[in-house]
Amino acid sequence: MSTTDQTVVRLEDYRPPAYLIDRVDLDVRLHPSATRVTAVLAIRPAEGTPAGTPLVLDGDGLRLEHLLLDGRSPEPEAYAASPVALTLHCPPAQPFRLEIETVINPEANSALMGLYRSSGTYCTQCEAEGFRRITYFLDRPDVLAVYTTRIEADRTEAPVLLGNGNPVEAGPIAGTERHYAIWHDPHPKPAYLFALVAGRLASVHDTFTTRSGRLVRLAIHVEPGKEDMCGWAMDSLKRSMAWDEHVFGLEYDLDVFNIVAVSDFNMGAMENKGLNIFNDKYVLADPETATDQDYGHVEAVIAHEYFHNWTGNRITCRDWFQLCLKEGLTVFRDQEFSSDMRSRPVKRIADVRMLKSHQFPEDAGPLAHPVRPRAYREINNFYTATVYEKGAEVVRMLKTLLGAEDFAAGMALYIRRHDGDAATIEQFLACFAEAGGRDLEQFALWYEQAGTPRLEVTSAHDPDTATLSLTLTQSLGPTPGQASKLPMLIPVRLGLIGPEGADIGLRPRERDRVQGDVLLLSERSQTFTFDGVTERPVLSLLRGFSAPVTVNATPSPADLLFLLQHDSDPFNRWQAAQDLATRELMRLYAARRKGDVLAVDAALVSALGDVLTDEDLDPAFRAQVLHLPGEADLARDIGRDVDPDAILSARTQLRHAIGRAHGQTFASLADRLGRRPFAPDAADAGERALKGLCLAYLAVSDQDTRADIIARHAREADNMTDRIAALSVLVHEHLAGADTALAAFERRHAGHPLAMDKWFTVQATSPHAGTLTIVDALTRHPAFDWTNPNRVRALVGAFTTGNQSQFTRPDGAGFVYLGDVVERLDQRNPQLAARLVSAFRSWQALEPKRAALAEGVLSKLAGRATLSKDTRDIVERCLA
Ligand code: ARG
Ligand code: ZN
Repeated sequence: MSTTDQTVVRLEDYRPPAYLIDRVDLDVRLHPSATRVTAVLAIRPAEGTPAGTPLVLDGDGLRLEHLLLDGRSPEPEAYAASPVALTLHCPPAQPFRLEIETVINPEANSALMGLYRSSGTYCTQCEAEGFRRITYFLDRPDVLAVYTTRIEADRTEAPVLLGNGNPVEAGPIAGTERHYAIWHDPHPKPAYLFALVAGRLASVHDTFTTRSGRLVRLAIHVEPGKEDMCGWAMDSLKRSMAWDEHVFGLEYDLDVFNIVAVSDFNMGAMENKGLNIFNDKYVLADPETATDQDYGHVEAVIAHEYFHNWTGNRITCRDWFQLCLKEGLTVFRDQEFSSDMRSRPVKRIADVRMLKSHQFPEDAGPLAHPVRPRAYREINNFYTATVYEKGAEVVRMLKTLLGAEDFAAGMALYIRRHDGDAATIEQFLACFAEAGGRDLEQFALWYEQAGTPRLEVTSAHDPDTATLSLTLTQSLGPTPGQASKLPMLIPVRLGLIGPEGADIGLRPRERDRVQGDVLLLSERSQTFTFDGVTERPVLSLLRGFSAPVTVNATPSPADLLFLLQHDSDPFNRWQAAQDLATRELMRLYAARRKGDVLAVDAALVSALGDVLTDEDLDPAFRAQVLHLPGEADLARDIGRDVDPDAILSARTQLRHAIGRAHGQTFASLADRLGRRPFAPDAADAGERALKGLCLAYLAVSDQDTRADIIARHAREADNMTDRIAALSVLVHEHLAGADTALAAFERRHAGHPLAMDKWFTVQATSPHAGTLTIVDALTRHPAFDWTNPNRVRALVGAFTTGNQSQFTRPDGAGFVYLGDVVERLDQRNPQLAARLVSAFRSWQALEPKRAALAEGVLSKLAGRATLSKDTRDIVERCLA
């Protein structure tokens, strides 16, 4: 305990930097195994720094080659250099120049942090603390400098040289095989936004003219041969740039904007100033290899990284505790962008599904942490669903509370006041408090208190007085490090629906606690009274998912069916279907745990059939309604003593009942839908989503020809969405033709790693007893590669997070397997290993036998002497 405790970084210990770095001149002479980096830093003591305060620059695995202080070699006793720090014991009291030379080995960098090589391309990843693997620096986000970067490389090895900012000059180095390029970024930035790329890259080009008339040259750089797959990303980029001007009034601020796709990348993408570097799966898209979901992700991630130019780069974070300042806000912005590009309700449903399946379980287990954490041992472990997705929900609630106009005014003030700053959540909130004339003190608890609040709702209707009274009670359980919680400010959007299905106007008595249709719950328990309610209304609670909470109301099944049919809020129509399905699944689950099998509720099955055939509804919406809660969602709702096999059988039973009841309809819809030539727009994607869902239900219907129909879809599909949908049904349902279809897919896509990832995932997520053996065998497939994070996530990650019943096999083999994989990867790539091991995060909720087996594997990992800091942090928090 005590040894690890020493490395905890705490928010309360934040101190402004003692020294500032105004300018950085970098000279990077690239070489595969010995890249020479010369950094010239213009440093000065911060105001108030006492003379003689030591300067400690961060390093990570560095070796100092040369050091000059104002052009002279310092005395040996004036400084100390180690792999993790360069210390000047008594630096000058005046501004000074430090010249530092280090030599690093990009080829040996398998952690994919700092400068590394991906398929021969030199690239960098510096967020959060990667710059210190390149040179000694004050590697913290509140030290902002102007960078000039000279990159030099072999001309044939790296004809393309890219840096941050604008290109200044480039040319050959006479008498050598080498050339150079100089880049200058006029905008001061923290080191985590530094980037360079050098390699043999092809590119596609376009331009964008900002509304104030700046011509921006846009380029996307990819491995040669992939140029045809950049069209959608470029289109998304231009739409993002226009949208940010239109909606937030934010323009781009350099002459060039470069995007580079690399195949080895730990995360999604990175917003380096003027030089975004992407995991190639979020850039490359064509109908042959990318699904509609992939198109949606490319659009969203391109937008996300672009939007960071203002929310992240122009205004950055004071320290890493403020990560949600840029991430939560930027996710909110990219969600809004996608909503405007596509169907808003369908996007909202997809986002909430994602929040509930990823963030809620995080909040409910040992890895729970506040949106703004107060302590960390390894910051890379805090790029989480809580910081990103819950962080976005908090911004969304702010908009709900303030209204669109005041929210926009708050954003404008934030940008105006903090442009060029490294800011905090307090400063962000202060802008909205000021613009909206509000006290946001209680609201700020959303950043401080971990866990998902729970709302209990009871109501009473009095026909004599025509009043409805509604009592809302909030509670929030303990989370690691937070035993007791204060009540939060929860915006609850409400609809009251009359017997005819129309909304009743709200006439609340507590006018100061209700804003339009939003109830402001701020006490532990509050009663709201509404007048003029002559007949008993049906409650539509938390419309649009106005707050990230769970609701415990007890509407009758009849009320839920009524909501599914009549709610004017499409989100809550979907929610009603989910609630009905969840209830039914819980009933079937409880019976199965006792060894019983109950009959499925026919009313639910028939209501879902009505939605399926309702041609007035958007196909994408219908697909969302018919898509049952996942196994992990049910596990989360069950909460304790979870038996994943019983969940799987309950869910299978309900799926079969739906399939059998509407087999004919599924068959005919599957035949009719999505027959137009592929276009990635929302309408066509929605039809394909519904078609894929129909195939999945058809597979469990009693239609005789079902296997043939599905195999034909797999064979004849002219796009990846349809092909993979049919393939996964064949494989997951063990239908005749599955092996043939797998083999055909493999032949067709053998040369395309991102397509093969889908082939791995389909097999890894099959809920059958042989899956673990297949996963292990697939690690020896020629297309698999332990060194590539996308491959590992597509196979092992898909198995551990997308295949509940097999990962948690009662014999513990799934846990043991993950433990072995983590040991194997940990030294090479700690971030990837730590991410994989967090699949254990809900182990305590499992039934005792499985829980003990999971704990055993975690304890064994914890006992290893050589575990990386990243993995140890997750393992120990899981066990705490
Ligand atoms: N800022 C990047 C993004 O938008 C994430 C980079 C995180 N990388 C890391 N190694 N922690 O979303
Ligand atoms: Zn981001």
